Amino acid sequence: MRLEIAQSVDEAARRGAALIARAVETAVEQRGYATVAVSGGHTPWAMLRELAGMPLPWDSIRFFQVDERDCDVDDEDRNFNHLKESLPHNAQIEAMPVERGDAGAASYAQRLTEAAGAPPVIDVIHLGLGADGHTASLVPGDPVLAETRQTVAWTRPYQGLRRMTLTYPVLDAARLVFWLVTGANKHRALRQLLAGDSSIAAAHVSATCRLVIADADAARGSDACP
Ligand code: 6PG
Repeated sequence: MRLEIAQSVDEAARRGAALIARAVETAVEQRGYATVAVSGGHTPWAMLRELAGMPLPWDSIRFFQVDERDCDVDDEDRNFNHLKESLPHNAQIEAMPVERGDAGAASYAQRLTEAAGAPPVIDVIHLGLGADGHTASLVPGDPVLAETRQTVAWTRPYQGLRRMTLTYPVLDAARLVFWLVTGANKHRALRQLLAGDSSIAAAHVSATCRLVIADADAARGSDACP
């Protein structure tokens, strides 16, 4: 798997934004529109603020969430709020309706199919990497790891919150999947991901086109591909 090493967190954010921009421009040129799915956490927001400053065909881009925590709409933990704050005000973002439980997961799966086909083929998916090797909300020991039919599913409580998440079938079908990984605390998980260590959930993402953008702290000792 290709690894790009950035010399700082800010450079990693810029590289991630540039990658999304290129994928979006290609998709719009080839198909007239683009679909982008973004994970939560802390890392992606600087990247999306960089993206927001770019001259993209915003009306032709549909943003989806990779995952969302089951918490109140105004809760700091709600990924959607950070997503909305980071992107331009006119960005089209499909929020995961976590307040609607199982019906919410089903309706989100339907929205994905309407936008990206059956099974959904998303143009570019951003993933984070947990220190325990989780990605999206595909977390260790959760039955959602074995979900192969539903494209959107609920996890059990993880770090105190249930999460609605895209499942492996959607991640694996994407035209491009990239991880944005920063911080020394991700060093071990990143080495496991790059080594294809099947003991971590992230290593089971089998999309054809995958790459990692990592800062020097996370990538310490790893070899970047040319
Ligand atoms: C979530 C995320 C999660 C995240 C990783 C990395 O909602 O918690 O989707 O999978 O991507 O935990 O998080 P950081 O970006 O904060 O390191």
